[in-house]
Amino acid sequence: MALAGILGTGAAVPEKVLTNQDLEKLVDTSDEWITTRTGIKERRLAAPHETTSMLSVQAARKALDMAGIKPKDLDLIICSTISPDMPLPATAAFIQRDLGAPPCCAFDLAAACSGFLFGVTVADQFITTGKVKYALVIGAELLSRYVDYQDRATCVLFGDGVAAGVLGPASPPSGILGEEMHTEGAYSDHLYIPAGGTVKPTSRETVEAREHYIKMRGNELFKVAVRSMEEVSRRVLKKAGVSAEELDLFIPHQANQRITDAVQERLGVSPDKVYSNISRIGNTSSASIPICLDECVRSGRVKKGDLILMSAFGAGVTWGAVLMRW
Ligand code: UT7
Repeated sequence: MALAGILGTGAAVPEKVLTNQDLEKLVDTSDEWITTRTGIKERRLAAPHETTSMLSVQAARKALDMAGIKPKDLDLIICSTISPDMPLPATAAFIQRDLGAPPCCAFDLAAACSGFLFGVTVADQFITTGKVKYALVIGAELLSRYVDYQDRATCVLFGDGVAAGVLGPASPPSGILGEEMHTEGAYSDHLYIPAGGTVKPTSRETVEAREHYIKMRGNELFKVAVRSMEEVSRRVLKKAGVSAEELDLFIPHQANQRITDAVQERLGVSPDKVYSNISRIGNTSSASIPICLDECVRSGRVKKGDLILMSAFGAGVTWGAVLMRW
C-alpha cells in the first residue's frame, strides 16, 4: 500500500506586526520578560476585515499550487481551528466554497495546538485506505480575536496565522512513517475559554467578566507540555525504528522557546536540527507547525528524502507527533 505524504504547503500570515514594545503599552510587561521567558519578540495580528477562512483560502491556494493539484481534485478538507469564522457552520464549509472545491467531506477539527497533526493523521487514514486521493489539511488561527489584551499572562504569547498542507499518495520513499494522537481531559481547565458554549452561553455577565477570552494556567501546562511532547516523540520514533540522531529536522509546536529547548535536549536531537520561528510569529496554535514546515520547504531547509519529526501539545490537553520522509 502506498504511503500518504504532504505534497505541498502554503502559509498566510497577516502583515500587521505586534511587538513586545507595543505590548508594554497595553499591559504591565517588558520586552526583557517576554524574551527571556518565551523567546517571542513579535507576533502577527489579522486586520479587522481578515477572517480565518479568508487566510485559509490564501494558504490553501499556495499549497495546491506547490502540489500541482486543483481545488476540483480535493475529496477531503479538514480545517483545524479553535478560532472559527463563526460557531456555526464549520469554517471548512466557507473554505470549500471560496476555494471552488466540489462538495466534499469538509469539517472542522478542534484539537487546539495539536490540530494540524491530528488533521494530517486523519487524512492519512483516508488516503492509505484508498477512500480519498487528495486531502487539504489547514491549521488556521486568528487567536487575537480570543485573547484578552488586559491579561499579560496570555496576550504576550499568541498570534495570528494560517498554513495548509495538501496530502495525497506519496512517491516512495517519501511519506508518513508514523503518527500518534492523544487527549487527556483531566487537564481541560489548564487552557480554555469559559463562556460562549453550552456551559455558559454568552451573556452580558460573561462578557463583563471577560469570560469569552482565553484563560491559561501556564506554569502547570509547561510541565505537561514538555513531558508529553518528549514521550510521544520517543514512541513514534521507536515504532518507526528511527533514532533521534537520524532526524534531519524536528519541528515542535511553537508554544515557548523554553519548551522547545527542553524537549530537544531530552530527546537528544542536535540543536541545529530544530526549527523555531517563535521570535517572529509567536504561538499560533494549530498553525504553528505548518507555518514552520512551509518556511522550511520554501527556504530549501527541507530536501527530498529528509526525515522530519513534528510534535505538538495543546489545550484539552491534546498531544501528538507525526514522522515523515519528505
Ligand atoms: O500552546 C499551547 C500550550 N501553551 C503552553 O504550553 C504555555 C506553557 N506555559 C508557558 O509558556 C509559561 O508558563 C508562560 C510563558 C505562560 C509563563 O512563564 P512562567 O515562567 O511559567 O511564569 P509564571 O506563570 O510562573 O509567572 C512568573 C511571574 C509571576 O509573577 P510573580 O507571581 O512571581 O510575582 C507572573 O505574574 O511572572 C509574572 N508574569 C509576567 N510578568 C511580566 C506573567 N506574565 C507576565 C508578563 N510580563 N507577560
